[in-house]
Amino acid sequence: MLQIKNIFKQYKTGNLVQKALDDVSLNLRDNEFVAILGPSGSGKTTLLNIIGGLDCYDKGDLIINGVSTKNYKDRDWDSYRNHMIGFVFQSYNLIPH
Ligand SMILES: Nc1ncnc2c1ncn2[C@@H]1O[C@H](COP(=O)(O)OP(=O)(O)OP(=O)(O)O)[C@@H](O)[C@H]1O
Ligand SMILES: [Mg+2]
Repeated sequence: MLQIKNIFKQYKTGNLVQKALDDVSLNLRDNEFVAILGPSGSGKTTLLNIIGGLDCYDKGDLIINGVSTKNYKDRDWDSYRNHMIGFVFQSYNLIPH
């Protein structure tokens, strides 16, 4: 259903480069329940933001139902967020009304 293939992500702040994901791969199957565990700073939020289509990976691929997202444009990611992924934030991030 969802494949993460050799994903890399780093954050650049001025000349500071922080590696957040370094060659991460995983496969999620239909109906599978998966928990991602790891120490603070190990990249869990970064990974979830990428899976949720909220942030972009630098290198690698995210494959959804057999379709690569490598050449996705903004509007493809819009459609991905609308139709492929549900995201429940820890703080709900809902408009109050
Ligand atoms: N916006 C950002 N700018 C710069 N560095 C960042 C940014 N977001 C995360 N990082 C860095 O990337 C690395 C991974 O952070 P991330 O937030 O994904 O970890 P985490 O596993 O979710 O941690 P926690 O358990 O504390 O929530 C850390 O070194 C963090 O400092
Ligand atoms: Mg986090």
